[in-house]
Amino acid sequence: MAHRLEIGDQFSVEVSAGAHLLDVCEEHDAPVPFDCRGGACGTCLVQVVTGSSNLSPITDNEEIMLEELGLDSRSGELRLACQLQVLGPVRLRPVVDRSDPDPTRGAP
Ligand code: FES
Repeated sequence: MAHRLEIGDQFSVEVSAGAHLLDVCEEHDAPVPFDCRGGACGTCLVQVVTGSSNLSPITDNEEIMLEELGLDSRSGELRLACQLQVLGPVRLRPVVDRSDPDPTRGAP
């Protein structure tokens, strides 16, 4: 079954349930920056606008990284895109938008 994935105001795509967000973003050139791809740098931090229950549970790497960033890993509001699988409709907003000329705008 396919689900709608929206990132920011400009990006929208249908993805298969269980799709890895990192793969989807790279395949479709989504506006989410990645670096380590392993939950260890925080570059891919995204805000979950809607559909937090439609994302895979937090991983150990993700929990550690969010805590290191001083974020509440239990709220589900901020997640690491490289660690996520999409399980249903989701709307996300990158904290650092690759297409944004002012990357400080929208930072938490
Ligand atoms: S790319 Fe480094 S934490 Fe996701």
